[in-house]
Amino acid sequence: MDTASNRALSTALDLLRDPPAKPDLGKGYLDLLGAGSGEAPKNSGFIQKAWASPVGSMLYDHAQLLNRRLLTAFHPPIDWLGIPSGGVALDVGSGPGNVTAALARAAGLDGVALGVDISEAMLERAVKAEASRQVGFVRADAQQLPFRDETFDAAVSLAVLQLVPDAEAALSEMVRVLKPGRRMAIMVPTAGHGGPMRFLSRGGARFFAEDELGDIFEELGLVGVRTKTLGFLQWVRGQKPLDAR
Ligand SMILES: C[S@@+](CC[C@H](N)C(=O)[O-])C[C@H]1O[C@@H](n2cnc3c(N)ncnc32)[C@H](O)[C@@H]1O
Repeated sequence: MDTASNRALSTALDLLRDPPAKPDLGKGYLDLLGAGSGEAPKNSGFIQKAWASPVGSMLYDHAQLLNRRLLTAFHPPIDWLGIPSGGVALDVGSGPGNVTAALARAAGLDGVALGVDISEAMLERAVKAEASRQVGFVRADAQQLPFRDETFDAAVSLAVLQLVPDAEAALSEMVRVLKPGRRMAIMVPTAGHGGPMRFLSRGGARFFAEDELGDIFEELGLVGVRTKTLGFLQWVRGQKPLDAR
């Protein structure tokens, strides 16, 4: 096991529903998909193909760093998530991993954040840039999260659900693994006013109707659901009720 992320990867192994007899940690992340890519439906569009490639993931990484420097609309609502000191946070579709690392910082020195992604190229970048004793990465599909029920103190997924064939399943999985009383937030690109971003749908990205994701949050039992659309981005946030069991 990579020594830098030893503690974070141990936490990931401890939280698994079905831990493998011989965990594959050879690339610095816990690979639960191996040579295959799991049984969940796949996105075969060119956007996800790009994020699965070394060049595409490198280009995305540079673009997101610039966007996050320039535009506050890209910043995850870290304070609002209320991650307790020593807590464990989840970043679904973690890409280059900088949001995962921000979650870990918010969880204090004893906290851990785990990033889950399907792309080996993205995970390789994330491990190089962000893996540490508090930040670990897992290769798995958002539609079938490998963790036990009610294990995380916060969950986010930024700019991912538009690429996931069964986005409802991914959201349901996030709710399942969230502890009662804890919060989750997601962000997706929107078509924009007049639909200038619609061209992305040719690359396999889905656009959600204005209230679609907020409605799904409520159907999944989340409370205090808030939706905010800022230009080409929509944020949706909610809390799992304490009596969710
Ligand atoms: C646009 S990037 C966003 C990365 C990161 N969340 C951020 O905000 O910078 C989308 C990420 O979602 C990942 N992804 C797409 N489909 C996925 C799935 N079914 N399961 C897990 N990750 C997925 C991609 O590999 C890619 O790293």
